[in-house]
Amino acid sequence: MHPALFELEMLGGGFERRYRKMRPEVEAMPWGTIDLRGVPEATLILARKSWTGAAFQEHRTGVACCATLRALMECRAPLDLIALASRFPLDEMVHVELCARMAMELGGGTEIMHDPDIMVVDADASRAPIVRAAELVVRFFCVGEALSIPLLRGTWHAARHPLPKAVLGRIVKDEAAHGTFGFTFLDWALPTLSPEDIAYVGAQADRAIRAIYKQWEALKKAARRDDTQVAGDALAWMQSDAYLALARRSMQEKVKGPLTARGIPLSA
Ligand SMILES: [Fe+2]
Ligand SMILES: [Fe+2]
Repeated sequence: MHPALFELEMLGGGFERRYRKMRPEVEAMPWGTIDLRGVPEATLILARKSWTGAAFQEHRTGVACCATLRALMECRAPLDLIALASRFPLDEMVHVELCARMAMELGGGTEIMHDPDIMVVDADASRAPIVRAAELVVRFFCVGEALSIPLLRGTWHAARHPLPKAVLGRIVKDEAAHGTFGFTFLDWALPTLSPEDIAYVGAQADRAIRAIYKQWEALKKAARRDDTQVAGDALAWMQSDAYLALARRSMQEKVKGPLTARGIPLSA
């Protein structure tokens, strides 16, 4: 265990310039244009918390992308597919910066303690490389990323201010490729997996789906406690019941449907 505050720094100078050149769209966003006058303090704190939490989630997704990338190489997935996926960690770092800067725009990030030792659950090391890759791809991409895309798109639609609109728009654009990637990998890998392997991969999908159901329960309870809608207009979050309805629909259409269509057994 190495509990630590979630904080990131920039080296600056030439390194930052090179990074900016790779992703010029970050600096081109309308930073500094949110008028916070008249926004209640409680709303502001909630929004700062939300964006800081989003930055942490993007950071965690970056770790998930790296773990998957390693497994893809170990199982000698098609080179062009690996090359495509090697862009994902950079995308996630950009998303971390975007969300962290949104929190800064609203007055600063909030405190998040985390344990870097348990960022993601790794694949079962005793399984064959291709099964390890399928396990991670299914949990992180076919469930996690595939589900987050329609939700991000919904949040992007709900955003009115040009800054969160630009931030979410960028994230949605990048994530589109992350979402389809998982199923492309499965279509390549499934013909070589045994029925036992496929059952295992299905159980892993169930595990990821159940974890998301738990998050929804927590969200429902939190929404009942204080209506997060107050933060909606100026600061870009969807109303929680609209979010949950979309989430349930997306889970069926974007996750469970495509998985069962490929013969992956689900019970969650
Ligand atoms: Fe992301
Ligand atoms: Fe992603």
